[in-house]
Amino acid sequence: MPDIHPCFNQLLGRRDKEAMLKQHARVIWFTGLSGSGKSTIACGLERELAQQGFFTQVLDGDNIRTGINNNLGFSEADRLENIRRISEVSKLFLDCGVICINSFVSPTKEIRRVAHDIIGRENLIEVYVKASLETCEKRDTKGLYRKARAGKIRDFTGIDSPFEAPENPDIILDTERYSVEECVRMCAEVVVPVVSWKVEGKR
Ligand code: ADX
Repeated sequence: MPDIHPCFNQLLGRRDKEAMLKQHARVIWFTGLSGSGKSTIACGLERELAQQGFFTQVLDGDNIRTGINNNLGFSEADRLENIRRISEVSKLFLDCGVICINSFVSPTKEIRRVAHDIIGRENLIEVYVKASLETCEKRDTKGLYRKARAGKIRDFTGIDSPFEAPENPDIILDTERYSVEECVRMCAEVVVPVVSWKVEGKR
């Protein structure tokens, strides 16, 4: 097949950009029920990493589902497409050397496998933000569980749509046991050594 995208081999590579930013890019992927604390911890982690001089981008429902994915709902097929697009966007950030912090319910093994396959498991740090349905429902920070129980929202994760806990997450943050600050610290302890710049050959 003729090369119809000749500019790709002229682009600066990920390593060049990582060297400019003096960091190693990764996707930090938070999965968990709505109300488990994913986005709060993701924002806390971004602030902590920024303080330590790292360059990041947070992707979550607020900036993705109101923009690039504003035509998607919560059917199985739409959730899969949501995560597929997010994974492709994350890959672009990786190629820019940027640490991408993703906060999405990403409820099933199949959906997370799509993310792993697109991004590459080795480029991804999977964080399971763990809290029982009972706790999330009690917190009901957005009032969505109440609406789901009343039948006003359908296909709500944990109520009438499944959530499968990840099998091999790199980090588990139990937000029933630990505060936001503790969760951010535990997360940073794993992430910082991985993204810290190491001169080539000295890794
Ligand atoms: S995912 O399943 O496709 O990964 P995503 O993380 O983008 O979901 O969006 C979940 C957020 O959308 C929830 O935190 C909640 O605020 C809102 N939401 C609205 N409807 C639903 C629903 N039916 N199921 C889950 N979350 C919903």
